[in-house]
Amino acid sequence: LIEYAIEEAINSGIEKFVFVTSPEKQSITSYFKKKNNLEEVIKIKNKMLYSLITKYILPEDKIIEVVQSEPKGLGHAIWCAREYIDGPFAVILPDDLIFSKTPCIKQLVDQYYKYGKSILGVQEVNKDQVNRYGIIKTTTNHLAKKIDIIDLIEKPDFKKAPSNIAIIGRYVLTRNIIDELSNKEKGSGGEIQLTDAIKNSLTFSEVFGYKFQGKRFDCGNMMGALEAQIYAAINRSENKRETIKILKKYIKKDF
Ligand code: G1P
Repeated sequence: LIEYAIEEAINSGIEKFVFVTSPEKQSITSYFKKKNNLEEVIKIKNKMLYSLITKYILPEDKIIEVVQSEPKGLGHAIWCAREYIDGPFAVILPDDLIFSKTPCIKQLVDQYYKYGKSILGVQEVNKDQVNRYGIIKTTTNHLAKKIDIIDLIEKPDFKKAPSNIAIIGRYVLTRNIIDELSNKEKGSGGEIQLTDAIKNSLTFSEVFGYKFQGKRFDCGNMMGALEAQIYAAINRSENKRETIKILKKYIKKDF
């Protein structure tokens, strides 16, 4: 999932990558760094594996690792990266996997260049799932792609949700969101929420939602991750027939 996020960022023109990880997870960042000894051996032994493992090697000076020492929420994780953010920045939450023609974050970056305001990737979700997301309030017609946001609420109760338009894990944000996060206000689940910081910024700056084009999978839950894998395998021409064969085999056997 993290590799997909990196691929999306590279294909969107992102040049600097800040990984916010928890302690003892440095292996995540080192996965994207050059590992001289191993690569040299594999280069000789297995050309295909070599091209796979080196596909997403990032230049050392473009990778920054930030350790979030305690799990204090998404807003806190982003605040931990503050010293590396000096202008507008993109946020990708890799557990939201999005397959699209134009990379999702690129779609938001393009909107940012048009309007110069923070833009959030949004999508309509089932009404009974609003308590899993940041939900936006808008007066914009539901058919529009670009949506004016007049309020946001993190993981509302079904009855209190102002809409079923949810924030998906893609954001292009202006630097002032970091200042809002510095207040370290605790919100839903006792955590420092990015949604609350964006909400607070509404008093002095507009924020838009953008209904991006793309198929999105919530890989933060097991069935979502499974569905994403089936979708990815079926849509890769070299795996399609074999994947269908495997699926048929198990469907026949058990039902
Ligand atoms: C986070 C955000 C939430 C957003 C969601 C998208 O929640 O806090 O506003 O809707 O990502 O996946 P999390 O999934 O980390 O609980």
